[in-house]
Amino acid sequence: MGLMRNVFLAGSQSPWLRERAMRYSFVRRSVSRFMPGETLEDALRATQELQLKGMSTVLTQLGENIKDAGEAEAVRRHYLEVMEQAAARGLDAQISVKPTQLGLDLDPQLCRAHLAALLKRAEERRNFVWIDMEGSDYVDATLDLFRGARAVSSRIGVCLQAYLRRTPADLEGLLPLRPALRLVKGAYQEPADRAFPRKEDVDAAYLELATRILGQPGGPEMLAIGTHDPRLIERLRAVAKERGVPRAAYEFEMLYGIQRALQARLVEGGDRLRVLISYGSYWFPWYMRRLAERPANVGFVVRNFFSG
Ligand code: FDA
Repeated sequence: MGLMRNVFLAGSQSPWLRERAMRYSFVRRSVSRFMPGETLEDALRATQELQLKGMSTVLTQLGENIKDAGEAEAVRRHYLEVMEQAAARGLDAQISVKPTQLGLDLDPQLCRAHLAALLKRAEERRNFVWIDMEGSDYVDATLDLFRGARAVSSRIGVCLQAYLRRTPADLEGLLPLRPALRLVKGAYQEPADRAFPRKEDVDAAYLELATRILGQPGGPEMLAIGTHDPRLIERLRAVAKERGVPRAAYEFEMLYGIQRALQARLVEGGDRLRVLISYGSYWFPWYMRRLAERPANVGFVVRNFFSG
């Protein structure tokens, strides 16, 4: 799907590049467009500001593929604290976690136990836990994790990626659980036998999946439409309206700092919008995926280089 996209996605996996890029202040300044700051406090402050504009948030601490059990334990403690802070401040801030950040590579049982602890706190604090979807090698394990958690609580949702050829079958398997689903296009580098290489095919798959989900009797508990694509958003708003889908059954989700005018318009038009805020010091692979989505963003990096 474009040479630049592949270059950035390959770069996102390079420890050599990560180590160097993270040192440069002009790169850090560019990142700040998509990230209100590196700390939880920054993310909570941004939530408060967005809440005044009628938006809610999902908070995610950057990190993936952690290498030891102590790190996974720290991540669990961190998200427990996020839910405490959100409740104490009266903020509608959900959390979103990556299975490999909770130790999936080390031990699936450990990851499951951490997720269970987060879900318990979500029940206590009336919050909600989203599970991100990572590269395609993790899909089976991630869906298993979700199924296990969904059996004990409905305060959990999982992300599905429209670019994967397997997703329609995964969706059919999940629908009987009445899941909360977040549909996105997909942000990882995948081979053509697993994911559609052409953007048009990904967009078409997205529309088809979302249309299948929206308003199906006995369908999912909630669909989070995770895209910044104005054409898809318009089409799906129309589908929801035509089918009389209740407002509680879907919401739009976008990343912090992307398509801000569209975010504001949706809220003004009475739609529900949740903004995903990423924060933390481990931003390099995540930022490379944002550049891959829109190589024009490199312009910000270049401008920050010359302004700095
Ligand atoms: P598309 O890439 O077609 O962009 C549509 C328009 O939006 C562009 O023309 C541009 O105007 C704007 N835009 C999009 N990305 C931009 C950027 N980086 N900078 C500036 N403008 C941009 N992926 C994944 O694999 N697993 C996951 O768990 C998640 N989770 C997730 C949660 C939420 C809430 C969102 C919004 C996204 C994700 N993603 C994700 C990322 C997702 O897979 C996808 O890479 C991005 O959302 C970009 O795709 P769009 O659907 O926005 O469309």
